Amino acid sequence: MDKNMPISRRNFLLTSAIVSVAAYGKATSGRLGLEKDPFIEDLIVRMTLEEKAGQLHMENVLTPRMIQPNFQKINPFTPNFTPEVAEGLLNDQLARIRAGAIGFMTSPEDIDSTILAQKTAVEETRLKIPLLFGADIIHGHQTVFPVPIAEAASFEPELARQTARACALEATSNLGLDMTYAPMVDIARDQRWGRVVEGAGEDVLLGARFAAARVSGFQGESRDDLHSLLACVKHFAAYGAAESGLDYAGTAISERVLAEVYLPPFSAAFDAGAIVTMAAFNTIDGEPSTGSHHLLTEILRGQLGFSGAVLSDFQSELELIKHGFAADEKDAARLALSAGCDIGMASGIFPRYVPELVRAGQLDESVLDQAVRRILLVKREAGLFDDPFRRISEQRARSPAPSSHRKLAREAATKSVVMLKNDDNLLPLPSSGKRIALIGPFAADQENLDGPWSPFVPERPSVPLVDGIRGIMQERANLNVVKGCDIEASIAGGIDEAVNAAREADVVILALGESTDMSGESASRTEITVPPAQQDLAEAVSATGKPVVVVLRNGRALALDGAVRDAQAILVGWFLGTETGPALADLIFGKVSPSGRLPMTFPLASGQQPFYYARESSGRPPQGDSTTKFTSHFLDIPQVPLYAFGHGLGYAEVEYGPTQCNASNLNLAGSLDVSATITNQSRRWSAEEVVQLYIHDRVASLVQPVRKMVDFKKIKLAPGKSETVTFTLTAANLSFLKRDLQPTVEPGEFDVWIAPSAEKGTPTTFNLIGA
Ligand code: BGC
Repeated sequence: MDKNMPISRRNFLLTSAIVSVAAYGKATSGRLGLEKDPFIEDLIVRMTLEEKAGQLHMENVLTPRMIQPNFQKINPFTPNFTPEVAEGLLNDQLARIRAGAIGFMTSPEDIDSTILAQKTAVEETRLKIPLLFGADIIHGHQTVFPVPIAEAASFEPELARQTARACALEATSNLGLDMTYAPMVDIARDQRWGRVVEGAGEDVLLGARFAAARVSGFQGESRDDLHSLLACVKHFAAYGAAESGLDYAGTAISERVLAEVYLPPFSAAFDAGAIVTMAAFNTIDGEPSTGSHHLLTEILRGQLGFSGAVLSDFQSELELIKHGFAADEKDAARLALSAGCDIGMASGIFPRYVPELVRAGQLDESVLDQAVRRILLVKREAGLFDDPFRRISEQRARSPAPSSHRKLAREAATKSVVMLKNDDNLLPLPSSGKRIALIGPFAADQENLDGPWSPFVPERPSVPLVDGIRGIMQERANLNVVKGCDIEASIAGGIDEAVNAAREADVVILALGESTDMSGESASRTEITVPPAQQDLAEAVSATGKPVVVVLRNGRALALDGAVRDAQAILVGWFLGTETGPALADLIFGKVSPSGRLPMTFPLASGQQPFYYARESSGRPPQGDSTTKFTSHFLDIPQVPLYAFGHGLGYAEVEYGPTQCNASNLNLAGSLDVSATITNQSRRWSAEEVVQLYIHDRVASLVQPVRKMVDFKKIKLAPGKSETVTFTLTAANLSFLKRDLQPTVEPGEFDVWIAPSAEKGTPTTFNLIGA
């Protein structure tokens, strides 16, 4: 009897993203048909080599306002020049648009730039091919929503769909954009990597569900929608696996791990309708992603069935030279294009060298034609051939964001916050009758509310924590605000002032954490801790013996220590954007109960990185809190998290009944119901609970993770109420990839948990039986 049941690889990648797509994939098919469109084929036949190579090129669009003497730039990507130099540059760019030497433009500063460039393209070029405009709309534009990792903590993909929809509406209206370089769907298991802030965390299933939801949100129900913003899913692939969490470093993963862990969110995004993806900066198995034919053609187009276009990451095609993979610019252009990278971001090497490469017989023209075909199909799908100005409207650009976006930002912010602990029910605080000392560099901070990737000027300044608190506290005189220290340095007398304020207060709120610059691109940290100056402040304040609530500002999981770790209550506050202060205050004073859950593990120490729950079973497993010699742990700490993936508290206490299966066997072709009764013990508070389903394959031909989340549901429980939550398991939930990358399920015994986090609960078992 063959004990393995093969299933197709595509199905595997789909089932790994279980049901993620079903809810979001509708109107827009993810697999862009490369069927020959007579209109496009006719264009290709008429294009010169230079015009074809021009379509492969993206560059920063310059604003005509640059030449005004008092030009104030909004967008940090716009260079600073004298008016004369600016005029020369602008004229030069317009001349290149006229010559058909530019296909895509990025990061417009204002609607004037988009109008001028598009008019030039469609009125003054020989073939009148419209430009496509892209930018980094990551978590906001006029309204700033929480950073993506924060929204993932809501475990509510639908919320991320809604905020992505709002971003799309604002960016298409305000700038006439056609595409965003988002979502970032890189699984991130090493918290030293700064870009964990841009994704959905460490888990494959959570990542896949958020990937699909965000694509669906950006693109809307139909690409015909005026506010449909194409999603460019990034970074293909395994950028999050950068060795030691160091940005731009190579990866050391097997192709099986690539397929099992890093690709499913991309697959889910493509199924939800994404037709553009961005090649990553990193190498995989010795090949830079942007120059890897194996990755961009065999895996992406062959195995995943993606037929859209690939955009390089900022000059990553040029970086093939520094990698030592290409000899010079010409070689880099040839390698990247032949690998399957269709559009070069900002380097200019495609228009510079591709015509010459084709003429010299060093690049087959069919390779160029295929890239151009994909690009023109993407432009067709964006509706640009029907109406190149469909998204560009001066009138819409002047409209303020709908007021509903602010409400959505508040909801998203409150749902993103994770309460890690709340000893003796210190929270919520009463809104009157208590003296509060609000201490720390993030108490009144206005600079670090939005977090990384907020390059455009939002419509209104985001609201700091202190203003949110003032908005709820009834006696203003009861609030004392002291900075105490800077983010990374002490300030003279700061600690003394903070200690005095703490002594005079009934309770202290300590606002600590990371600045915007400490996460995001090129922001890896060796120590993922609260910076020493803030730690010193926390130690001094805590020594007063006053109860302390820590409110973190952070773009990654932190290794909390000392007085920060030991505070009575801790809220993970991320970068919440426009509604930071009001949302945090709602939670602190109990207008809303916290409901977020950790989308990644909080470790005990930085040295545990990469540390994630779905790690492989060891031959010498760690023994919980014990540090017994010859088991897998570091000498100085037990190998446990401080707070596990999935953990988070609300004001209601929630109890999980035992996990039960409706049968002891699951047939390969059948299904099994797994359920548990969840009870809200509180008489006062309703609860929002993220009920998580984990499995563990006890014996398999490849070592399996100690636990793997295969489904989750978010439920609401009124005070005192219970609900029996049931998940239906099928063999597809139990599959894994074999060494030959073929998906399989192996009959045998499985543990299954319904639990509130990856470290909690008692499993029950069932048998998967083969035919
Ligand atoms: C980042 C991308 C981003 C691009 C354009 C790169 O440095 O890696 O994520 O989309 O810049 O701003």
